[in-house]
Amino acid sequence: MWYMDTYLTLPLLFVGLLSTFLIIKQVVWVPFKLYFIAQHVKKIQFKSLGRWAVVTGATDGLGKEFARALANRGLDIVLISRSQEKLNAAKQEIIQDFQRTVKIIQADFMDTDIYDRIEKELSGMDIAVLVNNVGMAQTFSPFLGIPNIGKEAEELLNVNCVSVIRMTKLVLPRMVEKGKGVIVNISSCLSDINAENINVYPATKSFVSRFSKSLRKEQRSAGVTIQTLAPGMIRTKMLNSFLTPQPTESEIAQHRQFSVLPEAYVSYAINTIGWEDECDGHPKHFIIRLLLKLIL
Ligand SMILES: NC(=O)c1ccc[n+]([C@@H]2O[C@H](COP(=O)([O-])OP(=O)(O)OC[C@H]3O[C@@H](n4cnc5c(N)ncnc54)[C@H](OP(=O)(O)O)[C@@H]3O)[C@@H](O)[C@H]2O)c1
Repeated sequence: MWYMDTYLTLPLLFVGLLSTFLIIKQVVWVPFKLYFIAQHVKKIQFKSLGRWAVVTGATDGLGKEFARALANRGLDIVLISRSQEKLNAAKQEIIQDFQRTVKIIQADFMDTDIYDRIEKELSGMDIAVLVNNVGMAQTFSPFLGIPNIGKEAEELLNVNCVSVIRMTKLVLPRMVEKGKGVIVNISSCLSDINAENINVYPATKSFVSRFSKSLRKEQRSAGVTIQTLAPGMIRTKMLNSFLTPQPTESEIAQHRQFSVLPEAYVSYAINTIGWEDECDGHPKHFIIRLLLKLIL
């Protein structure tokens, strides 16, 4: 009967239109907003949030580039990392290139007794931005083939997860009091992509994404931006650790094809802060993740 058809057609049409709208939003509007509009219109004036940016794992790769980018935006920088020599070198580079004040704190995030000392070092500082960047990779192997999984898992959890919670607890209360601040948590595209031979690391990154989501909801009226960046492959020391000891030409070429340089990543990612709660941070990573989600 004709009225039965209409009865079914209208809801189906509505569901179809809604799905089309959501797909267009995610696949066209969000990347256009993040990688075009946000690159030209700065949503957050970092300098208006306070004096200091604190970056963990700040002497190499992404962390070093974030520290440099935030110094370039006029903030003084606290670098927290493991190797004293590399901290001194990164400090000198920032002073020379951006004429900002730089404080260094040597700490190994594999240990959990470092936080009282870090708290003392940060006390009284007007912190605008915290970048929870420090992270370590796992042995690239099927789970049952990882030799000393107990020790490795503990280190991974301390560096990738505990550091995010403890550092956030150190800076968030003052940010909430001020009603402003930015916390950037570095997750990974692997947090929601199924890959082989890498099993514990992605779970630590899912932890980072989930913790950020809950905290954001809890603090939604506090005026603090809590942003998750979930990058794809970036050409850093960590990515090299996933290459075989003597990589073939084609392995290297493949890595290059799918990865970006840390400077390029940060130059895009920093402008997305405040525009979306969670994103890839780079247009190339957006496209690769979209394709992987369709295939895997
Ligand atoms: N590279 C990628 O493809 C990729 C993709 C997605 C997500 N990520 C995430 O991005 C973040 C940065 O990665 P990256 O590739 O830039 O790494 P990276 O090049 O290996 O640099 C890591 C930085 O963290 C420091 N660090 C490492 N372990 C530490 C510890 N136990 N205590 C204190 N500092 C420590 C390192 O200092 P030392 O040099 O002294 O060890 C270095 O400054 C990580 O959270 C990672 O999971 C990376």
